[in-house]
Amino acid sequence: MLSASCSVEEDTIENRALSSGSENQIALVEYCGSCHVAPKPETKAAKDWRAVVLRMQVHRSQQAMPVLTELEINEVIEYLMKHSKEQ
Ligand code: HEC
Repeated sequence: MLSASCSVEEDTIENRALSSGSENQIALVEYCGSCHVAPKPETKAAKDWRAVVLRMQVHRSQQAMPVLTELEINEVIEYLMKHSKEQ
């Protein structure tokens, strides 16, 4: 599940979401693409994303990666929720 490279997924995400703010897409790949490929927002309901992102903070600290700031967390959650599946 661990992957050193996320360049393929990065292209995919950028191509997929042309209609939305590209800064948030880049944030998703940057914050969520280093241990596994960045998840697709539509794989979860909006209400589920916050808990996932917060759990990933634990993984970050376990791997001695700096945790995301509140600003970064909100940025990525906002993007994930905006593009999540209907519930
Ligand atoms: C430090 C490494 C690391 C980073 C960075 C990371 N993840 Fe994960 N992720 C994991 C590990 C390890 C698992 C498997 C264990 C688990 O589910 O908690 C996982 C599993 C997942 C899963 C599948 C499990 C589920 O609940 O559906 C999703 C979705 C996910 N991550 C989303 C994200 C998002 C969104 C981000 C960015 C905010 C992110 N990950 C960043 C390590 C990471």
